[in-house]
Amino acid sequence: MVKELTYGMVGGDLRALIGECHRKALGLDPRAKLVCGCFSAVDELNDECAGAYHVDKSRVYYDAEKMAEAEAGNIDFVSICTPNFVHYSVAKTFLEHGINVVCEKPLTLKVEEAEDLARIAKEKNLVFAVDYCYSGYVMCKVMRQMIARGDIGDIISVNADYMEGCFLDLLSEKEQINSRIWRTDPKYSGISNTCADDGTHVEHLVNYVTGLKIKRLLATADTFGKKLDLNDNIILEYDNGAHGAYWFSQVACGSPNEINLRIYGTKGSLEWHQTRPDEVRFARKGEAAQTLCRGGDGIDVPAGSLSRVPFGHPEGYYIAIANIYKNVIDTILKLKNGETPTEEDLDFPDVETGVSGVKFYYAVIESAQNNSKWVDVE
Ligand SMILES: NC(=O)c1ccc[n+]([C@@H]2O[C@H](COP(=O)([O-])OP(=O)(O)OC[C@H]3O[C@@H](n4cnc5c(N)ncnc54)[C@H](O)[C@@H]3O)[C@@H](O)[C@H]2O)c1
Repeated sequence: MVKELTYGMVGGDLRALIGECHRKALGLDPRAKLVCGCFSAVDELNDECAGAYHVDKSRVYYDAEKMAEAEAGNIDFVSICTPNFVHYSVAKTFLEHGINVVCEKPLTLKVEEAEDLARIAKEKNLVFAVDYCYSGYVMCKVMRQMIARGDIGDIISVNADYMEGCFLDLLSEKEQINSRIWRTDPKYSGISNTCADDGTHVEHLVNYVTGLKIKRLLATADTFGKKLDLNDNIILEYDNGAHGAYWFSQVACGSPNEINLRIYGTKGSLEWHQTRPDEVRFARKGEAAQTLCRGGDGIDVPAGSLSRVPFGHPEGYYIAIANIYKNVIDTILKLKNGETPTEEDLDFPDVETGVSGVKFYYAVIESAQNNSKWVDVE
């Protein structure tokens, strides 16, 4: 019986942001070991990773395609932590070599590319996860289960935002901000910056928590004279007829990766903030609102038991990512052992979720560029 997995990483050199988060999240799971990588397109940066990550030099590659060829049959999955424009070609190569994929979001720069990845993963029967990590938070899973069993009744309104101020300096500087240069350049980020980067997290999270699908939307996307969007306001209509409003900004002075989610139903409401991820405000019609705390009293849905550390000790971003990986690892292990993964094992954002994110940011930009007309979202 297989009990452990090995993985490789593409991207995630010593200076990169998200690769380290993936390695730390995976470090919380003794069942997965990093054994190879193509950590950077720059040879010297790649070389310094071998020692730092305890990976044998012979398994550090200067080209992701060569890595996929050499590691086919040797690794169980690859984590792709590169800028957006690299996702498609790298994910495709690994899938074609029969390797399961965990890829960063937004999945691709084009809808057709995302659909192509979904097609290949399905044809080859491979696991494909997309790191929409916020649905890994225990309290988001709790909200999902409470809504599914009707605790707040029928949803009548959703309000969600993702606010940060990382590009505020762009508005007063001629030069792009160097460490994040690819994000605001269409060559590397495609048609959208803020909506693709942050907005797709919200699109996924609302769908994950409420089960609602977006039918159509209208949007404004402020560029402030730069090449791509930096501040987006969106009105949405869901498949149940309810409306929602989203706001994504990367020029919101002083906002620290704030994700705020408010969901209103006919019988109650739920409110969650990523800056306090272990808490949910739950209001039942006619009663005083209460704060549900991860690991605390009053949570009687199965996800309530998923806490890793006791009530009051903060969990956080790394553990949210680790929770995504836990289910990916459970799924791959079961498949390797000839077992069928359960619904719980399969509770991670999959490739179709990635496709949906790309369609979402295309619809937002299409609306914004056409006088904020309503755009149907498939
Ligand atoms: N899920 C989240 O919460 C979250 C947070 C931050 C970033 N991201 C996503 O993660 C991805 C990477 O973002 P980041 O902030 O870590 O970027 P970054 O610029 O800090 O790091 C990118 C890494 O990819 C490497 N790289 C670039 N081209 C490569 C290639 N051809 N082959 C191999 N390596 C290559 C770089 O050397 C670097 O190690 C993006 O898609 C971003 O949207 C997701």
